[in-house]
Amino acid sequence: MPSSTVLLVGGTGRVGRLVLNELLDRGATVRALVRSSSAPADFPTSDRLHIIPNASILDMPLPTLSEHARGCSAIVCTLGHPPTLRGIYGAPYRLVTDATRKLSEAAAQVASRAGSAPIRLVVLNSLGVNAPGDAPRTFGERIVLALVSALVPPFRDSMHCARYLNDKVGKDALSGIEWAAVRPSTFATSVHEVEQYSAAKVRPSEAGLFAPTDISMESIAHFMAMLATADEGTWAEWRGTMPALYCVKPASAAAAVESKKEA
Ligand SMILES: NC(=O)c1ccc[n+]([C@@H]2O[C@H](COP(=O)([O-])OP(=O)(O)OC[C@H]3O[C@@H](n4cnc5c(N)ncnc54)[C@H](OP(=O)(O)O)[C@@H]3O)[C@@H](O)[C@H]2O)c1
Repeated sequence: MPSSTVLLVGGTGRVGRLVLNELLDRGATVRALVRSSSAPADFPTSDRLHIIPNASILDMPLPTLSEHARGCSAIVCTLGHPPTLRGIYGAPYRLVTDATRKLSEAAAQVASRAGSAPIRLVVLNSLGVNAPGDAPRTFGERIVLALVSALVPPFRDSMHCARYLNDKVGKDALSGIEWAAVRPSTFATSVHEVEQYSAAKVRPSEAGLFAPTDISMESIAHFMAMLATADEGTWAEWRGTMPALYCVKPASAAAAVESKKEA
């Protein structure tokens, strides 16, 4: 997809910043919605980066959001609940789901009005969330995930978001939008580069909850930016899916189906 324009939501976060750099590296023009009154001081400078300040997505009227999405071929959303007590247990409880719904509706509005090609929506989810076709969970995994779901509201938010995309958008309730919900494993904090990672359309058994499959944020950003800017053929392979993203340790690295070299 040459010279694409991408709307980025969550670009000030850890993954979002890396996505921003990846998108610029791939030649995309980026419109970044940020909540602050100006771009963070350490944001890259580029004439292909357009900052939209004071832009809190949950407070923004839908027509305004549609205007920002107009002319974009893709939207990438990496926002998430801050990892603080208040961020985890305080409002907004459905931050990710509500933002995804709003972005979907804005994109659908733009695409239907312009009669243009569908807009891609690439959102950040979590490998703890199940998707149709995934390898069955063990009894132990089911117990742990039930506890996490009961005790950690942001995890429930990710589950709701996945349900919204699968049940509402996925069933053509909204035309003009095509989506992928990227499900990374636990973030690796000691790796700061794109690794030889695996991406699969459904979660295979090797990416179980207790398997050591943590993945660098650089790898996650690499995959999300790849999806946003990929040619139609590559995108067709991933649209409407919830790609499992993980990094197997060397013994099973041969099973990698997607890697830095392929994108
Ligand atoms: N940690 C893991 O192992 C793991 C694994 C899989 C998935 N995830 C998911 O990945 C998400 C993103 O991770 P991260 O480390 O990049 O997060 P992060 O650094 O905390 O960034 C969060 C982003 O969301 C924005 N945001 C927060 N609250 C908002 C609100 N009320 N309205 C609008 N924007 C808001 C922040 O904007 P401001 O800069 O304006 O605050 C920031 O851009 C996590 O929240 C989690 O759900 C995490």
